Amino acid sequence: MEKVYGVIGNPISHSLSPLIHNHCFANENIVAAYHAFLVKKENLSLAVRGMKAIGIHGFNVTIPHKEAIIPYLDKVDPLAKEIGAVNTVVLRNDSYIGYNTDGIGFVRGLKEAIQKEKVEQKKVLIIGAGGAARAIYYSLLAEGFTNVDLANRSVERARQLISGSTYASRNFSNTYSLAEAEENLEQYDILIQTTSVGMSPRTEESPLTLEKVKKYTYVFDIIYNPFETKFLTLAKEKGCHIYNGIDMFVYQGAYAFQLWTGIWPDTEVMKKLVINRLGG
Ligand code: ATR
Repeated sequence: MEKVYGVIGNPISHSLSPLIHNHCFANENIVAAYHAFLVKKENLSLAVRGMKAIGIHGFNVTIPHKEAIIPYLDKVDPLAKEIGAVNTVVLRNDSYIGYNTDGIGFVRGLKEAIQKEKVEQKKVLIIGAGGAARAIYYSLLAEGFTNVDLANRSVERARQLISGSTYASRNFSNTYSLAEAEENLEQYDILIQTTSVGMSPRTEESPLTLEKVKKYTYVFDIIYNPFETKFLTLAKEKGCHIYNGIDMFVYQGAYAFQLWTGIWPDTEVMKKLVINRLGG
């Protein structure tokens, strides 16, 4: 019998997840279908119960449900619990188990981009302190990164993010305002932009001017629409290596697919599909 998977969120019609997962199932000769389901906030609990009742095998969770879904799951993986958000749910022995593959997806892309020994010792600055920053911060620490600082418009929110971490004792993270970060950029080897600033249609905005960034810094932006944000263009002009959010999107999907099927999918094909769909 065909297995059914999906993604729940609101809005959901622009999700690229059906594209990549349906391709991966077909590519692996797995008889399964992946659909996008529009679920309103007030219907979340009902939706999860309904999905279980009809035997949906696994699903992704996106805005605005990543945090709210936790109480409705049977079990939550420790990293997802630490992050406080779930983006992937797996049905196992009639139980729904929640995982977070956003952060580890980002880290996989980062390691592939940098491919240097001891990358974990590089000095990293995350810009932002929202849900995406949380997933990336905790995943970097879980992967052994030891020098991760945070800069955010609201410094208090960055402080709160760090103080909730059980990894905090292993990590001496500094928190900065955006203006302070701007003055300190030359000390970083890796910058990770996680805010929504610069996302289409506000493509002329950047959270930092990057005036003081070092040449050859590795600069990541998790946005992929546009492909190259203002932030990345400014970094490129300073001679930095630049990377957009397509890898994070593809790898979070690949880890989800692996949780559901045990198979690591062809991520190069997934990247091409996403780039083609976005008109690149
Ligand atoms: P997500 O879950 O996608 O990360 P979020 O939790 O709403 O979204 O977080 C958005 C991030 O973008 C935050 O770091 C936010 O800064 P504040 O915590 O100070 O609100 C940041 N952000 C949003 N708009 C911004 C702007 N115009 N300038 C600077 N930072 C901005």
